Amino acid sequence: MVKRDLRWGIVGCGVIAPAHAKALAKAKGAKLVAVCDIVPEKAEKLAAEFGQPDVYTDLKEMLQEADLDILSVCTPSGLHGGHIEAAAEAGVHVLSEKPLEITLEKMDSAIQACRKAGVKLGGVFQRRTFPTSKQVKEALDAGELGNLLLGSAYLKYYRDQAYYDSGDWRGTWELDGGGALMNQGVHGIDLLLWFMGDVKKVFARAGTLARDIPVEDTAIISLEFENGAFGIIEGTTTVYPGMDTRLEIHGEKGTIVLEEHRINVWETLDGGSKIDTKDGAKSPGVSADPSALGPLTHDVLVQDMIDAVKEDREPLIPGEEARKAVELILAIYESARTGKEVVLD
Ligand SMILES: NC(=O)c1ccc[n+]([C@@H]2O[C@H](COP(=O)([O-])OP(=O)(O)OC[C@H]3O[C@@H](n4cnc5c(N)ncnc54)[C@H](O)[C@@H]3O)[C@@H](O)[C@H]2O)c1
Repeated sequence: MVKRDLRWGIVGCGVIAPAHAKALAKAKGAKLVAVCDIVPEKAEKLAAEFGQPDVYTDLKEMLQEADLDILSVCTPSGLHGGHIEAAAEAGVHVLSEKPLEITLEKMDSAIQACRKAGVKLGGVFQRRTFPTSKQVKEALDAGELGNLLLGSAYLKYYRDQAYYDSGDWRGTWELDGGGALMNQGVHGIDLLLWFMGDVKKVFARAGTLARDIPVEDTAIISLEFENGAFGIIEGTTTVYPGMDTRLEIHGEKGTIVLEEHRINVWETLDGGSKIDTKDGAKSPGVSADPSALGPLTHDVLVQDMIDAVKEDREPLIPGEEARKAVELILAIYESARTGKEVVLD
């Protein structure tokens, strides 16, 4: 068990980096000692807000000089793999933003590099840490709904053209890896897979209906899960004003509907009902505003990463788990492109 405070760094000081820095400020057992961005002003701004850690503009230099234990990777999605591998080579553990990467090859190479170097690789899917998500997962694993029949996710965000124009990597195949599904919907898709298990077959239609971007802004998908259940995903970034993310899970013995972090329906044949309304009707507005992450964000995953390193155990969402949602999204893209059903390996 490592007793000293771990030294934490962040690469990529844009929209999501403060969520990592805030979580670190609350966490026990680590401190933010270095931040890095190719745009010096962005790194300096983050440093000024979070206790003046050292500022770098080159990741390799930060990895050589800052004596880090853990690195948060908060750069554009298609750069994650290279940054994870650079950390692994330097013997530094990694907490990577979603999506883990945007191709299977780059995800596998990053996972492999971390395993080879003996460093831990954790993925960020903060919705798995919401108390209500955990409640649903435990109930499903305990068989409270019986055999699962249908698992669907409605992932309707609103991002205007100005959002896509706000960064030259946004809405590109090369660095965002896709659109409404790979960037925003990936959270709900991860949750759906966590609840329902792996997907066997997908058939998808995806298009760019309203934004001036090369990637999809709207998609519909039909799913067959390994356990035989069916499902639907609707994903978009074009729906004003943005709807709460909704997951509907039906089993032979009942139904659970989760909206953002609220359980709106929990009914089972044996009379069980568990409705959590204490968070009120309004949830954090992330479906409308990417920076409005609300109070239930990265705290649990950051603390878990510190504890995983100190206790020498796997983090809550190891790289192999974080890979799954991206693998499904890539199969969805293939189906939409070819007009054919895709069978996952
Ligand atoms: N977990 C969540 O809810 C959540 C929310 C938003 C974004 N994200 C993810 O976080 C990542 C970043 O998204 P964002 O919205 O913060 O993007 P952003 O464009 O606001 O920030 C990215 C930063 O990385 C910097 N950068 C680019 N290349 C670099 C390099 N080689 N070295 C160092 N810095 C570099 C850019 O200058 C920029 O400041 C994406 O993968 C995104 O999917 C996750």
